Amino acid sequence: MADTIRINERVRINAEHLASALENHMLKTFAPDATKELRLFSASETAELLGISTSFLRKLHFEERIPNVQTSAGGRRHYATSEIQTIREHLEKGSKAGSLYLKGRKPGDKLQVLSFLNFKGGSGKTTSAIHTAQRLALKGYRVLAVDIDPQASLTTLFGYRPEYDFIESGTISDALRYDDPLPLSQIICKTYFDGLDLAPGGLMLQEFEHETPRALMKNVQPPFFARMATALQEVEADYDIVIIDCPPQLGYLTMAALCASTGVMITVVPNMLDIASMSQFLQMTASLLDVVADAGAGMEFDFMRFLINRYEPHDGPQQQMVAFLRQLFSDEVMVASMLKSTAISDAGLTHQTLYEVERGQFHRNTYDRAVESLNLVNDEIETLVQQAWGR
Ligand SMILES: Nc1ncnc2c1ncn2[C@@H]1O[C@H](COP(=O)(O)OP(=O)(O)O)[C@@H](O)[C@H]1O
Ligand SMILES: [Mg+2]
Repeated sequence: MADTIRINERVRINAEHLASALENHMLKTFAPDATKELRLFSASETAELLGISTSFLRKLHFEERIPNVQTSAGGRRHYATSEIQTIREHLEKGSKAGSLYLKGRKPGDKLQVLSFLNFKGGSGKTTSAIHTAQRLALKGYRVLAVDIDPQASLTTLFGYRPEYDFIESGTISDALRYDDPLPLSQIICKTYFDGLDLAPGGLMLQEFEHETPRALMKNVQPPFFARMATALQEVEADYDIVIIDCPPQLGYLTMAALCASTGVMITVVPNMLDIASMSQFLQMTASLLDVVADAGAGMEFDFMRFLINRYEPHDGPQQQMVAFLRQLFSDEVMVASMLKSTAISDAGLTHQTLYEVERGQFHRNTYDRAVESLNLVNDEIETLVQQAWGR
């Protein structure tokens, strides 16, 4: 008789192999107690983030109007994000017109909650969510990144190992659960980015999907669709913008995120299969939103945009798909797209973003093109946020 395998044993053995291999890899990549640290930024990057010229930045130093920073052997200045923020505050104080440099919320502006979603995995939700969160933090906004994907890729990109660091507690699941939820502030972690905090995700989040039907039967308040908004209320004064990275499915978690959102970004890869799947996704979302709207959920969004990702401008069929989307959805398609770039995927291999890696690690043109496309996307998102605040 041929050897047979018991599938459950096989899967378990494979799972154990993989888990230990991954742990080894993680230990090699990051020492166990090492936390991620952010690099310093060059003068030209700093000037760009501040919205001033490099010569003006030099002048500020020359006139000793801003504190000195670290210089390298060649006399080049390098800035930590906290130093960039200090300069920003200095510039704001000196400017006659208000909020030229500090562009966060003013009294009366509502917290912006931006969800990145699509039920297609690999469409770039996590990649765009983290780059947007980091870029906004680098520009001086107070940002909270929320990971509601049980797979917790966003949390991993912040240097955590969700399967070890938050096995029993510490994820956003603790703040959303029906039984004795924790205040959100108790699970929020600081990150190595100034102005960017994280509400981690992890496998525990799966329980929200399992527990919701029971909670609905027992009429536990608040209902699933209001639980994210309720959790965010506790920390709302601490942030300008919340970025939510959604799981690749239309479950209760995603609905809770949507009902807390003021803006929605739907990431889409411009090919036929992805667009067909997005069409289904939109139809399902619409009917589910009808149901929760009937149940009393608020549905007021400031904006919704399609964000084209993995764009290859020289690919004919892709160009056609993009033209098709623009014709169909006109203003709802972001003007800027995220280019497909090996710089983005390579940085991802070491759990980094393009804002974290050093330019020198990459082929210059590859890096510059990718960063430029990301900056255009994120600055367009910043404009949407500013418009929502009536500026
Ligand atoms: N513009 C891009 N260019 C190259 N690789 C990308 C790009 N966007 C995402 N990726 C890569 O594709 C993979 C899936 O992206 P991810 O953001 O995790 O998708 P999702 O969160 O929608 O599942 C990741 O390995 C990421 O590094
Ligand atoms: Mg993801």
